[in-house]
Amino acid sequence: MKRLLPFLIAPVISQAADEVPDYKTMKVTEVYANLCAGCHGKDMTGGQGPSLIDGEWKHGDTDNAIFQTILKGNLDFGMTPWEGILTDKQIRSLVILIREKEKEAIANGINFPEPEVGKVVETELEKYQIEMVVNEGLEIPWAISFLPDGRKLITEKEGRLRIVGSDGKLDPKAIEGTPEVLVHGQGGLMDVAVHPDYEENGWIYLAYADGWRDKPEKKGKEGKANAITAIARGRIKGHQWVDHEEIWKADKKFYTSAGVHFGTRIVFDNGYVYFIVGERGGNMEAQDLKNPKGKIYRLFDDGSEPKDNPFYGKPGVAKGTWTYGHRNPQGMDIDPRDGSLYITEHGPRGGDELNWIRPGLNYGWPVITYGMNYNGTPLSDITEKEGMEQPVTHWTPSIATCGLAFYKGDQFPAWQNDLFVGALKQQELRRLRLKDREVTSQEVILKNIGRVRDVKTGPDGFLYVVLNDPDKVIRLAPAK
Ligand code: HEC
Repeated sequence: MKRLLPFLIAPVISQAADEVPDYKTMKVTEVYANLCAGCHGKDMTGGQGPSLIDGEWKHGDTDNAIFQTILKGNLDFGMTPWEGILTDKQIRSLVILIREKEKEAIANGINFPEPEVGKVVETELEKYQIEMVVNEGLEIPWAISFLPDGRKLITEKEGRLRIVGSDGKLDPKAIEGTPEVLVHGQGGLMDVAVHPDYEENGWIYLAYADGWRDKPEKKGKEGKANAITAIARGRIKGHQWVDHEEIWKADKKFYTSAGVHFGTRIVFDNGYVYFIVGERGGNMEAQDLKNPKGKIYRLFDDGSEPKDNPFYGKPGVAKGTWTYGHRNPQGMDIDPRDGSLYITEHGPRGGDELNWIRPGLNYGWPVITYGMNYNGTPLSDITEKEGMEQPVTHWTPSIATCGLAFYKGDQFPAWQNDLFVGALKQQELRRLRLKDREVTSQEVILKNIGRVRDVKTGPDGFLYVVLNDPDKVIRLAPAK
C-alpha cells in the first residue's frame, strides 16, 4: 500500500507548475473540500474513508490523536499523510472543523422540546418549571441584579437602567442620569451589580462602553467610535442616578473603534470588586501588560488599588490588573465553597473556556487557544504552553458562553454549588458539577428559548435567566 503515496498526492503535484492551489493559505473548509471530501464525503459521513462524525475513532478520540492521524496518515489503510502539504495550524483547524461537525451531528440527533411557561421539565437531578419575570417592555436586556427590598435592576444594552418593582412589574420609566454610554457594536450598558452591603451604603456598580465619536467625515454619516469598557458606581434616588463616582477608566490612548469584545462582569468579594475588560479585538494586546485590554481587574470597592495586587506599582500597567491573556469573558462568579474566582470566556471559532482565576497569571489568548478564526483560517497550532494557564474545560464548537453563576439558593437542593453557564449562540443553559477543579458532569437544562445573556441565583433561591431575542427575563422554580 505504501506505493500508493505518489499516486495519491499526484493530483496535487501535477498542477504544480501553473495553477497549483496554495493549500497553505486556504481556509479550512476549502482545504477539507479539496483534500478530504473525496474520501470522507462532503458532509463527513464517509465514503472510501470512514465517517468523521459518527463519534467512533479508530486511532483515538482525543484532539491530539486526530491531529496525528491527519499529520502522519495511515498509508496501509489508505489515509494520506498531510505533513508538509498542510501546516500544523491548518491541521489543528481541521481537527476543530471535524469536532464542530461531530457535535452538530450529535446535537441534531437530540430533540429538545420547546420550553414553555409552567411546563414541568425533568433534568437529571431536579424538576423545574419556567416562570415569567418580565415578558414585555425590555430591549436587549444585558444583566440583572437584586435589591434587598425585592426589586430587581436590569440593564438594557442601549443605555437604560430599568427597575422591576417589588410588585413584579417592570417600571416603564428608566433611571435618569446614569452614565453616558457609547452604544457601539457589542458595547453599550452592560453589567449591573448591587453592592453586598447595599443596605448600609446604597452603592450600585455599572460596567459600560465609555467613549466618544469623532466628527463624521461625511454629513449624515456616523463618526468613528472610540470606546472601551469602564466601571462606575452611584446610588439611585427615586428615578435618579446620584453620587456618581468613576471606579476604573482606561487611558484615552487605548480607546478603539473596534466594535467587539468589551467583556464584562462585576463581582464583589469581601471589600474587593473584580471586573473584566475584553481585548477589544486586539488579539496580542491581551498579552501586553502595558495595555489594559484582555485583562481581569481587582480593586477595593472604592476604586483604589490593593497593594498586594500582582502588578501593583509596575509602570505602565493599568490600575487593578489581576490576570491577563483573556479574549472576551462575559461570565464571572465566586465558588461559595472556597472563594475561588471563575470566569467563562468566548473563544473565537471553537475554544470557549471556563477558567479558574488566580492573581498574576497569563491565560494564553491568543498564543494558545482551542479555537480558530471565524473564517476558518488558522489562529494557532498550539493549545498549551509553559507559563500559560489551561482552561478547566473548553467548548468546541463554541456555545458562546455568557453569564455564569454558582447556584447558592435553597429551592433546588440537588443543584447546590453547581455552576450554571449561559450560552448565546446555542441558546442554552448548562449545569456543570465542579469538583477539585474538574468538571465531573455537564448537562443542558434549558434550550431553544433565546440567547442566554445572564444567569443569577436570586435571593429567593430561584434561578434567573436574562434572554435576548426574545427579550425576556424568566426564572426556574421547583416544579409544583
Ligand atoms: C485517499 C483517501 C483519503 C483522503 C484523501 C483522506 N483520507 Fe482520511 N482516512 C482515509 C482512510 C481510508 C482512513 C482510515 C484509515 C484507517 O483505517 O486507519 C482515514 C482516516 C482518517 C482519520 C482517522 C479516523 C479514525 O477513526 O481514527 C481522520 C481524522 C482523517 N482520515 C482525516 C482526514 C482529513 C482531515 C483529510 C484531508 C486533509 C483526509 N482524512 C483525507 C482516507 C482518506
